[in-house]
Amino acid sequence: MTSTSVVLAGIFCSLCVYLFVTAPPELPDVNAAVKQGKSVDISNVFNAVNSINDTARRIYTKRIVGDGKERGLEFGEDWAEPSVDKGPLPALFTRMVASRMETKPSPLGLYLGSDQPINKSNLFKGPQAIGFAQLKETLSSVFIRLEDVGFVAMYPDVASAEPCISCHNEHPDSPKNDWVMNDVMGATTWTYPTEFVSSDEYLALIESFYNSVRESYQIYLDKAEGFENKVIILDDWPDKQELSLPDANTFIRTVKSESAAMVLNDLLLDASGDFENFEPQSTNE
Ligand code: HEC
Repeated sequence: MTSTSVVLAGIFCSLCVYLFVTAPPELPDVNAAVKQGKSVDISNVFNAVNSINDTARRIYTKRIVGDGKERGLEFGEDWAEPSVDKGPLPALFTRMVASRMETKPSPLGLYLGSDQPINKSNLFKGPQAIGFAQLKETLSSVFIRLEDVGFVAMYPDVASAEPCISCHNEHPDSPKNDWVMNDVMGATTWTYPTEFVSSDEYLALIESFYNSVRESYQIYLDKAEGFENKVIILDDWPDKQELSLPDANTFIRTVKSESAAMVLNDLLLDASGDFENFEPQSTNE
């Protein structure tokens, strides 16, 4: 067991004591699922991984891309080309995390979709397009049950900073050029095949997700080490105006410490993920 799973296992035991020994009767009745050894509702898991992803994306956007640009680092769509000395844009970082997650045994899927995407493969279709229309109206998460995929959760991705709208509005492939601040530009979308998971599966999932974030950041660091202008990799957050980046341990430590309280909340609180079935409407299209 790695240190993360030991810590998470400890948290989980405390929660079990709280939920099943001291819990007041109005807490959700999970007895049926517990009997099958599956005690964690997938909507709680979706909320927890979404908190981790939001935290990682925020730290990456602000402290790696934003601060990095001030130190002379560059970021772009073409970052993966061999001759290009750039790092991934936030959306591409998220996509990298999703593909690292695909290499893990946990069948948790992640993607960033939209109804007005720069990249056509990010276009929501069918039930997810219906779910996204609902999300834009209510401005809150949407949970969908799909015959072939299982359980889907969509969370609003909001234009929270000026570069979101300027970059998308100016992009030659963007079908929409009048994004304004606080628009819902897309949805972070998660999929999982079952409605409940065991505590072991829950721990493995959370740990796999943190590992996927760490590995993605390491892929960028590996590329940065080959840049023509030497980038210094530090074992802390850089504080000088030199071409430097924090190492993967520093990055993931910050992501963990800034997401830990939310992950615990997301597990403890009743997520009330009411999975809707939008499929009948979509087949009438
Ligand atoms: C410097 C340019 C740039 C910035 C800044 C930027 N994006 Fe993007 N974004 C892109 C590109 C390019 C893609 C397409 C990536 C791909 O190929 O999947 C994208 C993809 C997306 C997608 C998936 C749908 C689509 O358009 O393909 C969403 C949603 C999104 N961005 C939201 C945001 C938000 C919210 C912010 C600010 C927090 C932001 N973006 C900042 C360039 C940018």
